[in-house]
Amino acid sequence: MQSHFYNTYTELDPFLPNDAAQQLVQLCEEFGSYGLYSEEALNEGIGEGLPQRFDAAFNFVRTGGRFGRSQDDVKTLAARTNYFRETYAYGEEIAAPGIEALYKSEALIDAARKIFGRPVIEPAIVYANLLLPGQELAVHTDVPEFRGMSRKTCPQWLLVAMHHSGLFDEFRMPIATAVSWYQDTEGGEFAFYPDGADAPARAHSVRFNTAVITDTDSVFHGVDRVQEQLSSMPPFRPGMRVHPLGEGQWAVRSGKEEIARYSWSEMRFSISWKAYCFNDEEERKRWRTHKEDLGLEAVLDTLCGDLEKRGRLEKQRPDNRNLAELIVDEYIHFPAAQTT
Ligand SMILES: [Fe+2]
Repeated sequence: MQSHFYNTYTELDPFLPNDAAQQLVQLCEEFGSYGLYSEEALNEGIGEGLPQRFDAAFNFVRTGGRFGRSQDDVKTLAARTNYFRETYAYGEEIAAPGIEALYKSEALIDAARKIFGRPVIEPAIVYANLLLPGQELAVHTDVPEFRGMSRKTCPQWLLVAMHHSGLFDEFRMPIATAVSWYQDTEGGEFAFYPDGADAPARAHSVRFNTAVITDTDSVFHGVDRVQEQLSSMPPFRPGMRVHPLGEGQWAVRSGKEEIARYSWSEMRFSISWKAYCFNDEEERKRWRTHKEDLGLEAVLDTLCGDLEKRGRLEKQRPDNRNLAELIVDEYIHFPAAQTT
C-alpha cells in the first residue's frame, strides 16, 4: 500500500436505531422509481473515444470479475454492471425528505474524522443504488477530487489515475464514503481491499442495518454478483427504470413495458454517503474560493514528466487515446482476480 493511501475502515453493526433503519426501507419505496445509471459519455480530448471509467471496465473485461469466472459477452457484462441509482441529497438540496438523519449522522461524521484524522467534516451527497439479481459492480476506486479538478471538468479515469500516482496529494480533497444496507441479500457482498490491492479482499455480507465507512477513492472495492434467479437476467439498458409496486414488490420497465419483477428480499439496496474531510476552516475556505487550483495542462505535464522518468514515454507524446491508456496502465494497479 502506498503511503499516501488511507486504508482505515469502520464497520457499523448495527448502524442506526432499528426504527430509523426501517424508515429508510420505507423511504426507498416512497421515493419513487430509480433510473439506470450508466456512464455512456465518452471522453473528448485526452482519452478520446474511451468511456469515462475505462480503467475499471477494461480490467473487469480482462479479468472476468473478482473471481475471474465471467465468460459473458460484452452486452451481458454491461447489463450486469448497469445498476439503478438516484440522489437523495446533494449539498443543501434534499430530494428524499427523511434522509436528513442519515445525511447529518454523528456516527458517520465521527467515523469519517478517524479515517483521515481531519476534524472538519462536511457531508456532501447521499445517493441510493439498487442492484438486481445477476448484477454486480466491477472492482474500482471512486472518482476523487482535487482543487480545480473534478468530474465536472475532467475525465473520471484521469482523476482516478492522478490519485493513484501520488503526484497530486497536496491538491486532493479527502472524501470519506459510507455504504449502508437495509435488507439481507443473498450474494452481492461488498468486497473491498483495505490492506491493498495485493492482499485478499474482505467481503462484507449485505445484512439489514449495517454500514462500512472508508476512503473508497483509495481502497479498491466492488460488489459481488447478487444471487441470480432461475430465469436469466433480462437485458438492462439505459432508459429503463425500476418502480415500486408496494408491499415489497418492484418492476423494471422500459417505458410502459414490464421487463421483470422482483421482491425486496432478492434485491440489493444500498445508500452511499460522502463527506469532504478538511483539516480546518482555512482549508475549507481555500477549497471554496478556488485558490491554488490545478489545471489540466499542468497535470498532463507532470504525468508525462514522470512517465519519461519511468522510461514509459519518449519526449514525443502519443495521441490522446494511447496516452490515456498508458497513464491508466502505469498508475492504476488493480487487485488480481481470485482464482481459488
Ligand atoms: Fe465505488
